Amino acid sequence: MFENTAQGLVDHWHAVAFAQDLKKSQSLKLQLYGIPLLLWRDAEAQVFAVVDVCAHKRAPLAVTCFKQNTITCPYHGWQYHQNGQVCHIPSSPNIDLNKLNASLHTLPIQEAHGWLWLYLGKDTPPATLPLSLTAPAKGWQHIQLKKQFATSEELLIENFMDATHTPFIHRGIIRGHGAPTQHHIHLKVAPNQLLASYAETTEKIGVALQFILGKNLRVKHSDAFLLPNLVKVDYIINDVPRFTAVIACNPTSEGKTEALVKLSFRFGKLNFLVKRALPWLARKVLAQDFDITQQQFANQKIFAQQKDKSIDSDIMHHKMRLIRRAAQRRQTITPSETEFKLFL
Ligand code: FES
Ligand SMILES: [Fe+2]
Repeated sequence: MFENTAQGLVDHWHAVAFAQDLKKSQSLKLQLYGIPLLLWRDAEAQVFAVVDVCAHKRAPLAVTCFKQNTITCPYHGWQYHQNGQVCHIPSSPNIDLNKLNASLHTLPIQEAHGWLWLYLGKDTPPATLPLSLTAPAKGWQHIQLKKQFATSEELLIENFMDATHTPFIHRGIIRGHGAPTQHHIHLKVAPNQLLASYAETTEKIGVALQFILGKNLRVKHSDAFLLPNLVKVDYIINDVPRFTAVIACNPTSEGKTEALVKLSFRFGKLNFLVKRALPWLARKVLAQDFDITQQQFANQKIFAQQKDKSIDSDIMHHKMRLIRRAAQRRQTITPSETEFKLFL
């Protein structure tokens, strides 16, 4: 079913929703790779997922009993068990259901680290999730945001991995106004992930961050891409891990991507200030990224024949695409490491 749209990418767990957005005895509809999905949490807090299409005549479904996990199609009332098997057809109550053999497509789903992880592949799901997060340590706080983007998931992943746009698109928020400084980056390519580690620099940072941390700090950061569509950004300031962003870039339909953003931070006594300021700042940054990526996506459609002029500092984008292409072909790429420099 997903072969044409997502090929081998479906063989990985996808972080499709924040766990807290699906409460007990509630359902949630979403799309991934253009496929409508129905998720629900039963009366005992267990989560389930099916492809949101009735076996009868393909109408969308609804969960009608969260105790028994009954799914009912609102069109002609066919009822299904949580295992996807049809169990009642109101217009023909005596029909031989075994012979009919009508069922829904159920999907593996699990809850971990505050996310709901869904698996769309045909084979047994991978034993591990793309993200090995430890339990929340003391002193860390979290905020969660969602934003719909009008671009592809690949261009959005590229944007979140791309430090070179920050002095332009996010001037004054992520980067300061000073002269650009040279950064040394170690790039590590592994079969399922890409890690760009920026060597420590003493930087002037944006006004907003200066307000929280003071001037001229030692900053070390890394940007990671994890198959199929996760970006993880970590900041270590004066040797202390202070900030992590995890972003799931979920392709909902053609040219539409939902970003689920989880920001975690640890600024001691300033946590309460950060918790107030960060949602506003993050929304501003995401809105800036929305505008440029929407225009870029539209232009790439219009100028589909024009090739990009990629340079050395675009190596991360290139490697991310190599990892994704290999995954789509169900191959893995050879691990490698390289160094490069850029000015920010
Ligand atoms: S389409 Fe679902 S019951 Fe008829
Ligand atoms: Fe950005």
